[in-house]
Amino acid sequence: MPVTDYVAQLKKLEDFLIIISFIACVLISFAFAYFAFKFRRKETHEQGHAKKHHNLPLELVWSFIPFVLFMIAFVWGWLVYKDVRNPPENSLEIQVYAQRWNWEFIYKNGRKTTKELYVPVNQPVKLIMTSRDVIHSFYIPSFKIKQDVVPGMYTYLWFSANHKGKFQVFCTEFCGTGHSTMGAKLNVVSLEDWENWLKSDPYKGLSLAEVGGKVFQGRCTACHRPTKQRLIGPGLAGIYNTQRDLEDGSSVLGDENYLRESILNPSAKISKGYPNQMTPFAGLLSEEELSGLIEYIKSLN
Ligand code: CUA
Repeated sequence: MPVTDYVAQLKKLEDFLIIISFIACVLISFAFAYFAFKFRRKETHEQGHAKKHHNLPLELVWSFIPFVLFMIAFVWGWLVYKDVRNPPENSLEIQVYAQRWNWEFIYKNGRKTTKELYVPVNQPVKLIMTSRDVIHSFYIPSFKIKQDVVPGMYTYLWFSANHKGKFQVFCTEFCGTGHSTMGAKLNVVSLEDWENWLKSDPYKGLSLAEVGGKVFQGRCTACHRPTKQRLIGPGLAGIYNTQRDLEDGSSVLGDENYLRESILNPSAKISKGYPNQMTPFAGLLSEEELSGLIEYIKSLN
C-alpha cells in the first residue's frame, strides 16, 4: 500500500516508463537480430550494395512515436512533480532544524522534539526547514521525497501519509563524521493520538537524571557513549569529579561548571586527544534539559 498519494502516482509513471522501455528494448533487439541475419555477407567477396539512403516515412515514424512518448512522460512527470512540490493550503506546518548531527522539530505550540517527528495520518504536513551549520538533506525514502536543508534560508517539503506507521528519515548530504547517524523517526499516528502527544510533557514524572538520560539518547549518542569508551568524543562515565587533561597541557576538575561549559561552549576547554568539533548546545537545551544532562553524567560514575 502506498504511504502517500503521490507515491501511487509516481508508481504509475514508473510502470509506464518501464513498460515503454521494455517494448522498445524488445523491438530494437529483434530488429537488430533480423537485420544482422538478413543482410549478412553471404559470399566471401561480396561487396556492400546499399542503394537507398533515405526513407522519409520511416524516419518520420521513428521520430514521431518516441517524441509523443517522451512528451507523455514529460507532461505526466511535470504534473506529479507539481503535486510533490506544492503543499496544500490546509497543511500543518512544522519547523525543521538540521544541525550536525541531529534533526530538531518545532511545532506550533512550542513543543520540540529531536530525532522524532510526529504527524497525524491523512493530514498534509508542510516542513519548513533550515540548517544551523552546513548543508544537510532531508530524505524519507518510503515517501520518495528529499530536499536539501540549507543554512540561511528555508526550503520546503510536504507529504500526507495515508496510513499509520513508523518511517525512517535520513540525511543524504554528506555533512561530516556523524553524517551516517543523522537520522530521525517519522511517526504517523491518529489525529487523536497526535493531539494528546502534542499536549503531553515528555519529562513528566521523571527525575532530573532521567530527563538527562532522555536528552542524552536524543542528542549525544552520535558522538558519546555512556561508558568510559571513546567514540568521536570522550565516553561520559567517570568524567565527573576527576581531573581532566586538556589539549593545552593544563588540567581542570570535571565539576558541574566544567560539564555545563563543555555542553554549551565545547571549544572553551578541549579534552586532550579529542577533536574540537562538538556542536555548541547554547540555546538548544532548556535549563531543565541542561541540568538533567549534568545529573545524568554524574550518575554514570
Ligand atoms: Cu546531515 Cu548528513
